[in-house]
Amino acid sequence: MTTLTVQARAKINLTLDVFNKRSDGYHSLASVVQAISLYDTLRLRAAPGSEISLTCEGEHAAGVPSDASNLVVKAARAVLDVAHCDMGLDIRLHKGIPSQAGLGGGSSDAAAALIGVTSLFGLDIGPKLLHELASKLGSDVPFFLSGGTAIMRGRGENICPVADAPTLWLVVVKPEESVSTAWAYGALDSIEDRSSNRATKPLEEALKAGDLARVISGQSNDFELPVFRRFPRLAWLRDELQMAGALTAHLCGSGSALYGIAGDEAQANKIANLLRGAYRNTYVARTLSRIESNPLREMTG
Ligand code: C5P
Repeated sequence: MTTLTVQARAKINLTLDVFNKRSDGYHSLASVVQAISLYDTLRLRAAPGSEISLTCEGEHAAGVPSDASNLVVKAARAVLDVAHCDMGLDIRLHKGIPSQAGLGGGSSDAAAALIGVTSLFGLDIGPKLLHELASKLGSDVPFFLSGGTAIMRGRGENICPVADAPTLWLVVVKPEESVSTAWAYGALDSIEDRSSNRATKPLEEALKAGDLARVISGQSNDFELPVFRRFPRLAWLRDELQMAGALTAHLCGSGSALYGIAGDEAQANKIANLLRGAYRNTYVARTLSRIESNPLREMTG
């Protein structure tokens, strides 16, 4: 096989507890992370020589670098180097996931590149080494190697997959504002006497008990305090989602996208239609099982 197409899914954090800043500059955190149906597509093609080239396209390609600074190129390079493989590669990245949204698009692309390049060239790289490469690329990358529903700890690299959460229908809205992750962590640190919502453990228990009401009411994100303070329009958007019928609404990761939970697909479409006039980048999505979020699931040669 000389070409391979893989899908890179987005994520939301059903909880996001941020604790202390560590001596390495990262923060300890705990989070229930969930893969969702929004996706980017990577088309990988073996090429002559040993160069890696990247082309970005799609509605969210603007501003995405297509040089060696893109995590996709870094991931492909890391896999080829560690396997001592001197093949060249053309990568076409179709961006369906908005950037700087807290949806993990760049991290998911990197994980899909790790998995895709390994599969395309039949490289002998085990899961432990893949995880090591993933955590070097970014704190969120290891989650996307397994997808589904998982508990994230450490700086984000410790992933414990759990049973698939029940399917939740979502409305995801990416407003014009963009939030830098590094800024969001800094803004959290500058809040005096802040304490974490510590929502992860209770949500994990609600998931285990299959208590959907508690799974919905127990969602929480520590970044909402600093991000809504700095960008009041995002707090307004949360209220708009709820006024339009969302059962709950929260920030995605460190923002700036928000998600609202709908009762079912029809209600998600209704909410999205109400918001789309004011927010162009409004999407209906749903949570995915581990199997559904595997980058190789829909692969084509
Ligand atoms: O790991 P990643 O490169 O995605 O992180 C981006 C930035 O977010 C880091 O440079 C750091 O400022 C911040 N961060 C953090 N604690 C984490 C994850 C990220 O402070 N657990």
